[in-house]
Amino acid sequence: MGVWFITGAGRGMGLHIAKAALVAGHQVVATGRNAAKVAEAFAPSDDLLVVKLDVTNPGDAVTATEAAIARFGRIDVLVNNAASYFGGYFEELSPRQIDLQLATALTGPMNVTRAILPAMRQQRSGKIISISSAAGLVGMEFCTAYSAAKFGLDGWSEALHAEVSPFGIQTMIVNPGFFRTEFLTAESTHYADLTVSDYADRRAGTEAFMKGMNGAQGGDPAKLALALITLDREPALPRRFLAGADVVATAEQKIVTLQAEIDAYRALSSSLAIDV
Ligand SMILES: NC(=O)c1ccc[n+]([C@@H]2O[C@H](COP(=O)([O-])OP(=O)(O)OC[C@H]3O[C@@H](n4cnc5c(N)ncnc54)[C@H](OP(=O)(O)O)[C@@H]3O)[C@@H](O)[C@H]2O)c1
Repeated sequence: MGVWFITGAGRGMGLHIAKAALVAGHQVVATGRNAAKVAEAFAPSDDLLVVKLDVTNPGDAVTATEAAIARFGRIDVLVNNAASYFGGYFEELSPRQIDLQLATALTGPMNVTRAILPAMRQQRSGKIISISSAAGLVGMEFCTAYSAAKFGLDGWSEALHAEVSPFGIQTMIVNPGFFRTEFLTAESTHYADLTVSDYADRRAGTEAFMKGMNGAQGGDPAKLALALITLDREPALPRRFLAGADVVATAEQKIVTLQAEIDAYRALSSSLAIDV
């Protein structure tokens, strides 16, 4: 059994993952911005440590890592789960909103991983699971900031694997489709601060769609949590796991599109070498 360290464990997917890990017999470090609120979500257990961790605060990441090591002696699985969503057209998102999006969903996971990697290197083992999104596979309207963060997360995770796999450390990207959590509530979703009249009609339609999806998402976060427990038992993690039939279809379409883009300009693409 291992030690799972989970960000954003007080609600949503993080809570499901933490509970599934406890049921599977693991020890769990459940972290969140408000430790008291996280603690309320769990029954007390010797296998559970609740620690304050705002992923945007590198100091919190170090303190939480130290507390985890002091209590359980090691960290086997880090789940970079916490994030928020800044939904809106690029021109309507303020620079501050873009910064906040990147802070929770991209540099936040980096802060936590940076704090934990020394322990994993010392152990010569570890798994870093980063919860991305379908928006980390394809760019979608209304998701410019979010896709910037999630594409960044995917690229970072893939590159990190190459750097740390010689130390026995694996990374896995998880791209979920729509899952029924609190993600589309006002607790986690923030709409654009600015308005540009050209976007007014589409903004109204897209915002209404997003609000309508709240509570109607097809994915079951409890099943996603169990899927992660199953994948952890595999001899090695896959580099990427597509979570949900909707995102499998998205990924397949991306392959078709990319292949068509390659084929359309293969000759021009391949003609750019310096002549010798
Ligand atoms: N649900 C979906 O349809 C869906 C689809 C694709 C990807 N995802 C991804 O899945 C992950 C989990 O989201 P969810 O669906 O479980 O959403 P959720 O129910 O809204 O939960 C979000 C979690 O992130 C935490 N969080 C936000 N900012 C934080 C910060 N600065 N520091 C620490 N924790 C922070 C929240 O804690 P507080 O209670 O303190 O706010 C909460 O625990 C996210 O990475 C999200 O991008 C979700």
